[in-house]
Amino acid sequence: MTVVITGASSGIGRELAVRYSKIADTLYLIARRKEMLLELASELQKNGALIKIYQADVTDFENLRAICRTICEESEKIDIVIANAGVSSEHKNELYDFWEFKKIIDTNLLGIAAIFDIFAHKMINQGGGKLVAISALASFVAFPTTAAYSASKRAVNSFMDSMRLLLEPKNIKVINIQPGFIRTPLTDKNSFKMPFLMELDEASDKIYKAIEKNKKEYAFPFLFSQAAKNISRLPTFIRDAVVKKAISYEKQSRKRS
Ligand SMILES: NC(=O)c1ccc[n+]([C@@H]2O[C@H](COP(=O)([O-])OP(=O)(O)OC[C@H]3O[C@@H](n4cnc5c(N)ncnc54)[C@H](OP(=O)(O)O)[C@@H]3O)[C@@H](O)[C@H]2O)c1
Repeated sequence: MTVVITGASSGIGRELAVRYSKIADTLYLIARRKEMLLELASELQKNGALIKIYQADVTDFENLRAICRTICEESEKIDIVIANAGVSSEHKNELYDFWEFKKIIDTNLLGIAAIFDIFAHKMINQGGGKLVAISALASFVAFPTTAAYSASKRAVNSFMDSMRLLLEPKNIKVINIQPGFIRTPLTDKNSFKMPFLMELDEASDKIYKAIEKNKKEYAFPFLFSQAAKNISRLPTFIRDAVVKKAISYEKQSRKRS
């Protein structure tokens, strides 16, 4: 089995790499921090898979696409591609900075679109495969401080809907993972209280199982995901009121603690 993971140097991507190193023949790991990839590769060698690392920025689209073409050429078959690389930012209560906004869209949305067409062609030719994206529950409810992140992840949902409808008839499983808060370097910098915060190990197990089971969409944890989806369906004025209430509740509980 051959598996490709972007954003494999830390957090969820790293944990998925650990899990797939135990069952894959070849594992391709992509991220910008080479030293962390090298460290991970040497740690995973013992698990049996051949680990190949590529230092790359997923927003350097030409380079990224060249790497993906190389991976396709040298692999007889590619079974799973996990587009996990992502960034977030909180712009407090100020307007977003456009260049920061662009970086988030480039990474979280275009970083996926830049690789899926290449791997989809390969999978069509080989008769099947799995394309996985890591979206977020933040795709369902936008906060005033998450304009870029929520927009990027909502666009990922829409993109994955299109991919699923397009590629399912070609025997390609298109899997959209929508996690709530998970303790990783990405959330470590959050200044607000994160409801239903999950530990990385447990969350990675859930993601791994969802991919195994070919879930079209997997939003978790269950209660938090139901709340987020229900809020997103409310009429705008009620939805705004709920979000404002949640913000003021979070501020008060932070003051208390
Ligand atoms: N943690 C959560 O609560 C949570 C919740 C919902 C969704 N998610 C999503 O899960 C994914 C993984 O996040 P995480 O929590 O594991 O965060 P993380 O620990 O910060 O890991 C992010 C990974 O993405 C890579 N990355 C970021 N920008 C990149 C770029 N331009 N080019 C290449 N690689 C890049 C990073 O590697 P380098 O820095 O080495 O490049 C790193 O390996 C993200 O898409 C995130 O939005 C996370």
